[in-house]
Amino acid sequence: METTLVLIKPGGVSRNLIGEITRRIEARSLKVVGLKLINADRTTVEAHYAEHAERPFFKDVCDYLTSGPIVAIAVEGTNAVKAIRAMMGATNPVEATPGTVRGDFALTIDDNLTHSSSDPEAAARELQLWFPEGTL
Ligand code: CDP
Ligand code: MG
Repeated sequence: METTLVLIKPGGVSRNLIGEITRRIEARSLKVVGLKLINADRTTVEAHYAEHAERPFFKDVCDYLTSGPIVAIAVEGTNAVKAIRAMMGATNPVEATPGTVRGDFALTIDDNLTHSSSDPEAAARELQLWFPEGTL
């Protein structure tokens, strides 16, 4: 059993995709064990993307994540990390397979709608960051 983090980025929230994305997670028999709509702190977002601090897109992605409400979801299930990554699709939506969230609803890398943890270690770190109060 694993727990992973999904963030529905501001573009996903403003396009009313909270229900659609959550529906897909639940339809896969993965369990929602934490869920909240928040305005993310810049500090939290910068810590979240710390591995990308030196990349040219770092400021833009942090601006984007703080540009409006986001939804943080903790998702539990067998192989949840890998299953969720596959469901969200490739980082660049033009390379994302149809049937994935990004392949169905996104078009550009700067507005690719969701974040999901890349591996179990990242998931543990990110869950601590976004759900310091813990999950259910
Ligand atoms: O989100 P994911 O793990 O698939 O991709 P990442 O390589 O960890 O990059 C984090 C986020 O930065 C992406 O989801 C994009 O929102 C953004 N990014 C970007 O705007 N331009 C790039 N060339 C690469 C990433
Ligand atoms: Mg990543």
